[in-house]
Amino acid sequence: MIMSNLTMTGARSVAPETYELGSFLPVPDLGLLAVNSFLINAREPMLVDTGLGALEGDYLETLGGLIDPADLKWIWLSHMDPDHLGNLRAVLDFAPNAKVVTNFLGMGKMGLAGLPVDRVHLLEPGARLDLGDRQIVPLRPPYYDAPETIGFFDTKSRALFSADAFGALLQSPAENAAEIGEAELRDGMTIWTAIDAPWLGLTDAAAFGRTLSVVERLDPSIVLSGHLPHAPGMTLKLTRLLDGVSRAGRVDAPGHDEIERLVEEARLH
Ligand SMILES: [Fe+2]
Ligand SMILES: [Fe+2]
Repeated sequence: MIMSNLTMTGARSVAPETYELGSFLPVPDLGLLAVNSFLINAREPMLVDTGLGALEGDYLETLGGLIDPADLKWIWLSHMDPDHLGNLRAVLDFAPNAKVVTNFLGMGKMGLAGLPVDRVHLLEPGARLDLGDRQIVPLRPPYYDAPETIGFFDTKSRALFSADAFGALLQSPAENAAEIGEAELRDGMTIWTAIDAPWLGLTDAAAFGRTLSVVERLDPSIVLSGHLPHAPGMTLKLTRLLDGVSRAGRVDAPGHDEIERLVEEARLH
């Protein structure tokens, strides 16, 4: 991936007490990928992911413009991919009172990557996180690319933080997902899911549809994805597009005859 023209789009208020810290990563021949992290300025403020490491200076300046770093209490890591962990070390230094929120597998991966785990708050299965004026309810996004992934629902703003899910490769920067034409959004989601979750084409369409129904029943006020500009009041549009994308992208698993042929070939070698 080319890092030229990599810039932050600054901080944008996207829901009450909630800010998107956005950037666009150019992906050669494919377009632009939004890489977002978020600040929830709750009674106990929480950062959600830490942006791209290549933008460290801009990132810390933008974050410092929103909050006194000493007040930051939590750093939620949706998963341990570099586009979400990028400035973790720098933020831990910048915000000395903040604890990292992750689960058991996430903490294990941090340790393997040589990241400090002495400030980890381990999220037990089923446990919520209390930010003083709201609850953070962990949820599995409809799809993800790493098994430690945890999204969540904010009970005060009713925002759904979906990690990699609902991402889309874009042809030009957009401030709000509502500005993106439907064809561009569909194409962009198709490319992104093919890159991020190619297994989606192998899932049972009805089962995946039920997963999307859960998101619809939750009826979030806004979907905040790591890889899509903020999407207020668009949940049904996003779930329906994603349902279509997963069905169109269905990749047939090798059939029985193909498996038998491969087994036979292996036996003869
Ligand atoms: Fe990821
Ligand atoms: Fe990601």
